Amino acid sequence: MADNKPKKESKPSWRHYNFTTAGPVDDYLYSMLPKRDEVLAEMEEYASKHSIPIVGPAVARVLYQLALMINAKTVFELGSAIGYSTIWWARAVGKEGRVIYTDGDSKNAERARGYFERAGVADRITLHTGDALEVLSEQKEQFDIIFNDVDKEDYPRVLRLVSPRLRKGGLFITDNVLWSGRVAQKNPKQPQTKAILEFNRLLYDSGDFVTTILPIRDGVAVGLKK
Ligand SMILES: C[S@@+](CC[C@H](N)C(=O)[O-])C[C@H]1O[C@@H](n2cnc3c(N)ncnc32)[C@H](O)[C@@H]1O
Repeated sequence: MADNKPKKESKPSWRHYNFTTAGPVDDYLYSMLPKRDEVLAEMEEYASKHSIPIVGPAVARVLYQLALMINAKTVFELGSAIGYSTIWWARAVGKEGRVIYTDGDSKNAERARGYFERAGVADRITLHTGDALEVLSEQKEQFDIIFNDVDKEDYPRVLRLVSPRLRKGGLFITDNVLWSGRVAQKNPKQPQTKAILEFNRLLYDSGDFVTTILPIRDGVAVGLKK
């Protein structure tokens, strides 16, 4: 007799539940992180108190490590807020390196400048207040890393600007690409979710990059420029 029961979709055995984005495994990962210095610790506290969406120490460490892995000396950052991720980049590129900070809010830039002085990295950082996409589009050089952390609706537009301004072997890194899991919604209505979905699809389909999303915190996309 024919079995007309609808077949249950089975997942391959290697598809384990992703434990890294929530719960006790996440707590474990954070407990492993070394203590940050006084300035970074103060910034984390300030960001938490004032709901400033910084990448936090687990993602910052990934950024730092990626920069060291490709011996990055130049980083362009879109969306820097109070400069938390900027300081990690500045430390990774070293004394001879250069990081471009961008943010639309001049109060953020003012606060960031104070932190950069105290962290001893002010001389490696150039601050721009204004539209980060505009500042990037004016750049004539090719960077080792471009880090994207602006408003999510702008992500597809950022992608179109990046490739000519990134060297071969450079990294295009983007935060929040899992958007608290909303990327898995069936019919997302939120414009930010739709923009992130479009961005992720374009990035994975792009012939210019080899891309992987690291499911740490809110998802970090790492695209290697071919
Ligand atoms: C998520 S926060 C950046 C956090 C920072 N990358 C960190 O981890 O320390 C995003 C920041 O981008 C800024 N921003 C958003 N869209 C922007 C744009 N088009 N141009 C410049 N700044 C923008 C906002 O003012 C906000 O401070």
